[in-house]
Amino acid sequence: MKVTVVGAGAVGASCAEYIAMKDFASEVVLIDIKEGFAEGKAMDLMQTASLMNFDTQITGVTNDYSKTANSDVAVITSGIPRKPGMTREELIGINAGIVKSVATSLIEQSPNVIIIVVSNPMDTMAYLAHKSIGIAKNRIIGMGGALDSARFKFRLAEALGCPQSDVDGMVIAGHSDTGMLPLTRLAVRNSVPVTAFLSEERLSEVAEATKVGGATLTKLLGTSAWYAPGAAVSSMVQAIACDTKKMFPCSALLDGEYGLTDISIGVPCIIGKNGIEKIVELELTDAEKAKFKESAAGVRAVNELL
Ligand SMILES: NC(=O)c1ccc[n+]([C@@H]2O[C@H](COP(=O)([O-])OP(=O)(O)OC[C@H]3O[C@@H](n4cnc5c(N)ncnc54)[C@H](O)[C@@H]3O)[C@@H](O)[C@H]2O)c1
Repeated sequence: MKVTVVGAGAVGASCAEYIAMKDFASEVVLIDIKEGFAEGKAMDLMQTASLMNFDTQITGVTNDYSKTANSDVAVITSGIPRKPGMTREELIGINAGIVKSVATSLIEQSPNVIIIVVSNPMDTMAYLAHKSIGIAKNRIIGMGGALDSARFKFRLAEALGCPQSDVDGMVIAGHSDTGMLPLTRLAVRNSVPVTAFLSEERLSEVAEATKVGGATLTKLLGTSAWYAPGAAVSSMVQAIACDTKKMFPCSALLDGEYGLTDISIGVPCIIGKNGIEKIVELELTDAEKAKFKESAAGVRAVNELL
């Protein structure tokens, strides 16, 4: 299994690190436009191999796509992150050009690759990748919901005063502060609905804290977060590499599912060796459907800026 990670910045390097530590890939190629940067990150990570007990070979290259040839999976993290006070949507001007050219270069070298798009505004960047390279829709996956759901579980466990391993929950719809839809109705603590433990008011606080999870960290860090984003991507790469059929909410190009077409947005997906192997259609309540529709309108408005 060969994995390329485009962008050796905070998220890209963290993603490469988690992939290596889980030791399921033979090779990770880190590629960045900044001269020597990916080489440096790769060498630093390789010097942890004997300490962390992994055999994955990590190589760094500056903008040389020939080194990414025949990758099975590629992750696009290249582009600028947001600064405090910025929305993800404000990044579109710079990141759209980067994502389009990177996706084109990747597919030239690896015609069968499965691409995971991370750069923001992620739903629009995933849509742009679909439109730019036109490969089968199961092979372009946007990462947002896996991270947002991890943040939801963190907030649920905090409210319940329990370990995160006790809770499960999912965030669907657009990957934006206003568009996310944390499914509080379906969240559980060890198979018991969390509504049995938390008041409606407390649950709505949990949902709100989840939605602004990225902005909260951006304010604290001065740039956007990387550990949880990197971990979320590495779990999705692992699901493809090991053909686990694990379910993650991912930004998928819809063709009638959830009543929508020609949009990439967060929905539960079964992930395996073919990328998105199935989109799971949930029975949403009328209120959830209305929020999903509103979120989709927000994503479409950003897509139009393309
Ligand atoms: N989808 C999500 O859930 C999620 C989560 C966190 C961050 N992000 C997004 O991921 C992106 C990366 O964030 P970061 O914190 O790692 O930023 P960063 O600035 O640390 O790293 C970005 C890297 O991309 C490189 N780059 C720029 N143009 C390039 C090109 N054409 N080819 C190759 N590399 C190029 C830069 O040199 C830099 O090293 C941002 O757009 C951020 O908003 C998304």
